Parts: sequence; C-alpha cells; structure tokens
Amino acid sequence: MTTDNHAQTIASFWKWQAIDWDRFVAPLEGDVAFFVEAAQEAGSPVLEIGCGTGRTLIPIAQSGIEIVGLDLSESMLAEAQQKVIRLDSQTQQRIQLVQGDMRDFSLGRKFNLVLVTFAFVFLTTPEAQREALACIAKHLAESGRLIITNPDPKLDLLAAYLAPLGNALKQEKMIEREETNTRVIVWASRQYDPSLQILKSTYLYEEADAEGTVIGRHHHHLVSRQSYRFEMQHLFASCGYEINALYGDFKRKPFAYGDIQIWVVRKKEGVKQMNHSQ
Ligand SMILES: C[S@@+](CC[C@H](N)C(=O)[O-])C[C@H]1O[C@@H](n2cnc3c(N)ncnc32)[C@H](O)[C@@H]1O
Repeated sequence: MTTDNHAQTIASFWKWQAIDWDRFVAPLEGDVAFFVEAAQEAGSPVLEIGCGTGRTLIPIAQSGIEIVGLDLSESMLAEAQQKVIRLDSQTQQRIQLVQGDMRDFSLGRKFNLVLVTFAFVFLTTPEAQREALACIAKHLAESGRLIITNPDPKLDLLAAYLAPLGNALKQEKMIEREETNTRVIVWASRQYDPSLQILKSTYLYEEADAEGTVIGRHHHHLVSRQSYRFEMQHLFASCGYEINALYGDFKRKPFAYGDIQIWVVRKKEGVKQMNHSQ
C-alpha cells in the first residue's frame, strides 16, 4: 500500500471530518438514486472507491447488490461500519469494507461496475490519476463500467482564490451535533495554484457549547486537483478507456461548463491496458 504525504493528509483530514461528514455534505440532487440505478443495471459485484461513510454504498447494498467499499481513511470506514452493523444480516453480508489507496490496491477479483464517488479530485497529480485508472482497469470485468464524478473547475470561483495567501477566512457551515449538544462552525479559506490546478483548502472548526462558548478549535488542510473536461477525456484515452457518456447532473442532462462531470467509461475493446509508468 502507498504511504506518503497524500495518504497522511487524507488520513488526518478525514479522521477529523468522519463524524460530521453526513451532516457536512450538501446532498446532491439524485446522486444516490443514480448510483443505485447504475448498480442495478450492472449487477453484482460493484466496487465503490472513496466510499467514505457509506452514504451511497449502503443504499446500493440495500437494493440487493453485493458491494465492496474501498477507502483510504480508517475513520471514514469506521463510521460506515457503525451503520453497517445496524443493517439486517442479509444486507450486511452483501457489504465488504476495505482500507486501501485507489492508486495501489489489489482485491483479486473483477467488478461489473466501479464507482469513484467524489474522490478522484483528491488525486493531486496526473501521475496519481493514471496510477488509479490503471489499477481500476485491472479490477473491471471486460464489459464493466467505471463512473467517476468530478467537480468542473469554475473559473469565476477559482479566480477569488488566486492571491498567494488565498481568500479571507469565511464562515461556510454550521453543524449541529445533537449527541453532544454542541455546534461546530466551519470556516474556510482557499488558495488556487492555476499552474498545478491545485486547490488548497484550510478549514477552521470551532466547536461551541449550548451557551455559545467556544470549547475547541482545530484546523485542517485539504488539497484537491481541478481537472478540466478535455483533460479527463485525454486521460481516459491514454489509459485505455473509451467514453460512454458525460452527464452534467444525476438526471443525465448533457454536460455544460460548471456542472458536475459525471463520466461513464469502459475499457476500450482489444486495447492492452497501459501500465501507469508507460
Ligand atoms: C468527499 S469524500 C466522499 C465520500 C463518499 N463517496 C460520499 O460521497 O459521501 C472523499 C473520500 O475519498 C477518500 N479518498 C481520498 N483519497 C483516496 C485514495 N487515494 N484512495 C481511496 N480513498 C480515498 C477519502 O478518505 C474520503 O472518504
């Protein structure tokens, strides 16, 4: 397994984020239903990479599909596991959670569908992206599909983060933690490096008690890579994939600038998969 800066940053960020992720994530209209439908069409087994807390994985398993969830973060997988143990035993048996890095994993089996759900963006170099695509290809059945969701780089938003220290810290979210009767205020500042297409986000989390007194402060960094539409297209071609569809939302609207990139691809027939080092 790969252990380097990427793995450490991911582990440290998601360790802190894990307990709040389901409250933090802004639900995207129809994403879970879209993935469940794709899994139903493909049939078992399905692999979800970056499965996190199981937001998508669990509904897929509940729809009768056998699914493996792979994630780099032990903490996110621990949250997923907490939910899995509350499911009925038949659904539980359809789920396997595995800690691993999408750049370098080996499950020793092939899948009819591989999903990379809001996680490809954390591969911060073209080399890491190629490594992941090569590794995924080894896990895809011959007629299997790969679906990757990526944010489309929005130049007007990124322009606000071009200053060397990024934009001023801004309050972004407020999370209620009912279990401790506390509230977490999330502040963020971002800096964008257009030459590397790297977005660095710094998050400050302030936890306040019922009276509003701040009882804890943490800050964390997250690094992601903005990948453009035609860059992704070339990346797929150079890694031996052909594109079936590019949608702009989970109702399958044709993609337009600024939408979510929803890529549906498969291995090109008769093409030997490239090793990422080639
Ligand atoms: C934004 S969260 C998405 C979680 C889930 N897919 C969802 O939509 O709720 C990204 C997830 O990707 C995982 N991740 C990031 N880099 C990874 C890597 N190299 N290999 C496997 N998982 C990774 C993180 O640990 C995190 O759980």
